[in-house]
Amino acid sequence: MTWPSWLPLRETLRPMSPYGAPQVPARASLNTNENPYSPSPALQKAITDAVAKVAADLNRYPDRDATVLRTKLAGYINELSSTKFSADNIWAANGSNEIIQSIFLAFAGGAILGFTPSYSMHPLIAKVTGAQWIDGKRNADFSLNTSDAVAEIQKNKPTLTFITTPNNPTGGAVTLDEMQKLADACKSVGGLLVVDEAYGEFSQEISAVTLIANNPHVLVIRTMSKAFAFAGARVGYLVSDAAVNDAMMIVRLPYHLSALTQAAAQVAIDHRAELLGGVATIIAAREVVVQALHDMGLTTITSSANFVLFTGFKQEAPQLWAALLEKGVLIRDVGLSGYLRVTIGNEAENALFVSALKELI
Ligand SMILES: Cc1ncc(COP(=O)(O)O)c(C=O)c1O
Repeated sequence: MTWPSWLPLRETLRPMSPYGAPQVPARASLNTNENPYSPSPALQKAITDAVAKVAADLNRYPDRDATVLRTKLAGYINELSSTKFSADNIWAANGSNEIIQSIFLAFAGGAILGFTPSYSMHPLIAKVTGAQWIDGKRNADFSLNTSDAVAEIQKNKPTLTFITTPNNPTGGAVTLDEMQKLADACKSVGGLLVVDEAYGEFSQEISAVTLIANNPHVLVIRTMSKAFAFAGARVGYLVSDAAVNDAMMIVRLPYHLSALTQAAAQVAIDHRAELLGGVATIIAAREVVVQALHDMGLTTITSSANFVLFTGFKQEAPQLWAALLEKGVLIRDVGLSGYLRVTIGNEAENALFVSALKELI
């Protein structure tokens, strides 16, 4: 990108381009790991009613601390993981991307370690906030090698170590035992372990939130964008020790979470049984898609999430990606040579993906 000479953009930002998963119309949009199921008419009405109530007070700032929403999120996590969190252990923001940014603003004083390929926004936000990012490596099959990761932590002494589980874009999950080893290593170097569980509800592994009580240096990022089918509302949250939560309050912008967002998210949490009802269907559909890919002679990486990374096709990934888009199927080229990632959609979208792919390989 060329910038005008009069623009005093920071040197480190000049070579960068914005995050940009293509947002183009397609018959099957399977590129950003969204949930394919829209809210039921009853839920749409409940959200509209709640937002209408708030509309009468839009001359006033929202609750700066989003206390009702954070209390409801704590209740949801406690229900899921038999924990005892309160609002003091939850921070909420406009998507988990904002949570990640706040973590960098608060804590990224030293080196930051992550294990790529993983969620591209972790290193991107590191760059934007001027933090030093260290790229740890994974096994050839993209699984995390815990003993190598522990060695990396001990060598680099990072302030923050990021682990995404299930990992995006590869889909593999880290067990709680492995997570405890990583947490111990982070503790021994005086750092924090940041666990990004954006896809946690799709995984059978026990959540890292269960480690927090005995490991206050473990932070867990979650989102309502994926399993909760609420990406458009932009709500992500952090589960952590109360001291971490206090630090989030230092770096947050005042009134960052609009009254409309808070109201809509509260209704969504109250209707969680409906919203999360799609998770089992998506997991079952994932296995059908995986089988179809195997039947075509392709190889998949085992996924504990709502997407699958696959390889074994003869074309270059960008060519196959473009050919699929011509057939109305938008998937994701994640920049890994020879691999493409497909999000699991509804039955019709998955069928369209499978039939289009069959014609191309
Ligand atoms: C691992 C991971 N973390 C965080 C996010 C950000 O999600 P959101 O900002 O919608 O909560 C994503 C989105 O794809 C993701 O894959």
